[in-house]
Amino acid sequence: MAGHGARVPMTSHPCGPLSGTVEVPGDKSVSHRALILGAMAVGESRIRGLLEGQDVLDTAAAMRAFGARVERTGNGEWLVHGVGVGGFGEPEDVIDCGNSGTGARLVMGAMATSPITATFTGDASLRSRPMKRIVEPLSKFGAHAYGREGGRLPLTLIGARHPVPVRYTLPVASAQVKSAVLLAGLNAPGETVVVEPQPTRDHTERMLSHFGAEIRVDEKDGGRIITLYGLPELGPQEIVVPRDPSSAAFLVAAALTVPGSEVLIPGVGLNSTRAGLYETLLEMGAEIEFEDVDDEGGEPMANLRVRHSTLTGVEVPPERAPSMIDEYPILAVLAANAEGTTVMRGVRELRVKESDRIDAMARGLEACGVRVEEDEDTLVVHGAGPGGVRGGATVAARLDHRIAMSFLCLGMVARHPVTVDDAGPIATSFPTFEPLMNGVGADLRMAAEEVA
Ligand code: S3P
Repeated sequence: MAGHGARVPMTSHPCGPLSGTVEVPGDKSVSHRALILGAMAVGESRIRGLLEGQDVLDTAAAMRAFGARVERTGNGEWLVHGVGVGGFGEPEDVIDCGNSGTGARLVMGAMATSPITATFTGDASLRSRPMKRIVEPLSKFGAHAYGREGGRLPLTLIGARHPVPVRYTLPVASAQVKSAVLLAGLNAPGETVVVEPQPTRDHTERMLSHFGAEIRVDEKDGGRIITLYGLPELGPQEIVVPRDPSSAAFLVAAALTVPGSEVLIPGVGLNSTRAGLYETLLEMGAEIEFEDVDDEGGEPMANLRVRHSTLTGVEVPPERAPSMIDEYPILAVLAANAEGTTVMRGVRELRVKESDRIDAMARGLEACGVRVEEDEDTLVVHGAGPGGVRGGATVAARLDHRIAMSFLCLGMVARHPVTVDDAGPIATSFPTFEPLMNGVGADLRMAAEEVA
């Protein structure tokens, strides 16, 4: 599990132009959902392009623990033999979700309306994250949860014996909470309704419909009302997982900042509820070409061609936050290399991710010589201009894959190398990060290679 082993420091040295074609791994959000819905369908679903990162492997193990048969049949190819809606059995042991908030929250939702009990835990990062946001709506279905202070893990969830459908308005813009409610609603008779004042990633809705659930989405006042009809029979499906736009973002950032670079990243998921970073980068002056690819399995995809560009700071509006919530760390790195100031508002949710990402980015950038300002809900980065970041620091990754990858990208263009104290967590979402980056011209070295 991520974070349970010894630390793996890694250093990124300034490098020459990046060039080539890079196939980033499958989308993490879609991968979790494919396994969970596959396990809730009757019969055998096939998944291609599954992300084989630790977060997703932990969800696969959880689905096995609830009674589904989950097998790896090839590279990224998986077979899930589901037990049907309401068919989960009680796990014999604690469910360890490792580093994954998505895994923990979605699996809790999926089991909350079955008459079984399960105890969930995770690594130090996951055990520190708020779970009340999930416990509150799940208890409306009739489930009971006993966790630590603030509902934190380890937490025992007793599923509802006689679930009732709920109507729930999301108090925070969270696709994880929305998805947990929808998954719980599958095994409740009648209509479960989720109202989201700000749209968040809609992979669960798309995949539920792909699996044959009856689900309706109405747009209202800039938000969405999602209605799911309970107790469907989900049929097995073929699922093609698009490549992860959040992982592609690191390649994009590296190519944009390292002079002379040009990379092609094929088959990237570009669902509009995930594409906020790309909108922001175009405003900053990035040269990115998007070539549409047929959307397989209901998720839009594009090939991205990215060339080194001079970027200018921008104000990122708060309403864009849900569509780029995981990309603020790498945007902060891009902003540090831009001319002018970048202001990111409405980003308080970053404080409860795998780490407090506002604090992690602010402290790390300062250590690398970048001027930043922050408040509870805002991060401001004063750009040092192209090639202007000093670097030459060791930054704490805080059990957070995206913090680690962001600072390794910074090291590629800083005047001095940047080290992250632990690159281990990168394996949760992007296990091939180091070979892929080095394969197109980066110079990432593990601590042992530094000494050798
Ligand atoms: C995710 C939703 C987001 C995101 C996370 C993945 C998902 O979290 O940060 O990496 O797959 O639903 P929140 O729903 O907490 O914003």
